[in-house]
Amino acid sequence: MSRFVLGLLGVVFSLNAATQVPQFSPAEERAILRHGPWPAPWSPDPSNRASGSAQAIELGERLFFEPRLSPSGKVLCATCHVPFRGWQDSRARAAGLAEVERNTPSVLNVRYGRWFGWDGAGDSLWAQSIRPILEPREMGGSVAQAAALVRSDAELACRFAKAFGALPAADEALLAAIGKALAAFQETLVTGRTPFDEFRDALARGDAAAMKSYPPAAWRGLRIFVGRGNCSACHFGPAFSNGEFHDTGVPFFVAGGGVDPGRLGGIRKLLASEFNLLGRYSDDGQKKSSLKTRHVAAEHRNFGEFKVPALRNVALTAPYMHNGSLATLADVVRHYSELSADRLHADGEVLLLRPLRLGAGEAADLVAFLESLTERESALPERKPGAPCVK
Ligand code: HEC
Ligand code: HEC
Repeated sequence: MSRFVLGLLGVVFSLNAATQVPQFSPAEERAILRHGPWPAPWSPDPSNRASGSAQAIELGERLFFEPRLSPSGKVLCATCHVPFRGWQDSRARAAGLAEVERNTPSVLNVRYGRWFGWDGAGDSLWAQSIRPILEPREMGGSVAQAAALVRSDAELACRFAKAFGALPAADEALLAAIGKALAAFQETLVTGRTPFDEFRDALARGDAAAMKSYPPAAWRGLRIFVGRGNCSACHFGPAFSNGEFHDTGVPFFVAGGGVDPGRLGGIRKLLASEFNLLGRYSDDGQKKSSLKTRHVAAEHRNFGEFKVPALRNVALTAPYMHNGSLATLADVVRHYSELSADRLHADGEVLLLRPLRLGAGEAADLVAFLESLTERESALPERKPGAPCVK
């Protein structure tokens, strides 16, 4: 029905060249509709018994803004995931106690992820949330120190007991629960609706009048994104990521002469971690959520692959790529436009990516589309300090 109405409108409007109404082929239309609806449905993480629990979310929010998780007292999660900077830090490479090789991703919409970190070294949001606490250059903490903080602070201990019950005797189990509370909080961080979403829903309803309020440059860019650019092949679905890893020809050399092995190193770290989904801290009795981890194996082709980043609010999170090497969205589009096919994996990305050789107008259209993925207003509730915890 909607396609029929749209077809009729297409005929009417093509008679009137002055009125710009986007028209898409059925294949383009299907590809566009798959990037919504927004917010996309979500269900709690079976590997985290605190996922979705109001008490754990409260505790997790406190821990996210808790400098004492770092023995220095100087670095908190929000040092790098800064709420008013789109939950990242606007730096090329993150710096806690020292600088690291990688760019800080936003934690907005992270609940839709499948692997975590640029290299997927985390197979759950809670395991990923433990990593920076123990990383010497980020927060520089330890299992014992994080556990001692919760045991010794009356407010944190009270909130912990409400979220998880009695404090576990083992420090490592306590740290796993800290990760789970941090994850429960981050699962609430979702972006608001964007001009693209209004357009996508208008297209779904066949509402041509509403479609007209989407800027022509943005829908021309969208047509490249789902069509000739093949961007949707990797930046797939409502959050604009297929959740997997690819090499897009971004250099993997790091300062000092080393290399960042990307996914290859990530798989090795994942399989060695006591906090992975195959381990004893997963709360998923059926272990269904660990299937992906059981099937992962490091292969040479994983060298230099990085996670496909989600793209909502991308205009607010410059600089770009795993190493922050591209300053603007125009630079990213130029990267895809001028790719060198020799740099790509002959059996994989070469089939998905080829130099697009975009004209200046087309490049600007693609940037206009990426900018239309910016939320009109935040979907997050205003944060207010909670009352002290009473047992
Ligand atoms: C020093 C800066 C820094 C601090 C502090 C920091 N992070 Fe991060 N965060 C990063 C960087 C860099 C990455 C990418 C890591 C990688 O690729 O291995 C990241 C990745 C993540 C991810 C994965 C996002 C994704 O899209 O895969 C999550 C979740 C996360 N951090 C949560 C936290 C939490 C929770 C804390 C506090 C306990 C924290 N971070 C502290 C810099 C930081
Ligand atoms: C083969 C899969 C693939 C295709 C196709 C692809 N991308 Fe990407 N994209 C990635 C990966 C992987 C990264 C991260 C690369 C890195 O950091 O080394 C990325 C990064 C990005 C970023 C930076 C986001 C950030 O937060 O740093 C943008 C923007 C982007 N791509 C847009 C596009 C556009 C536009 C197209 C189409 C012209 C496209 N991508 C096609 C896989 C892909």
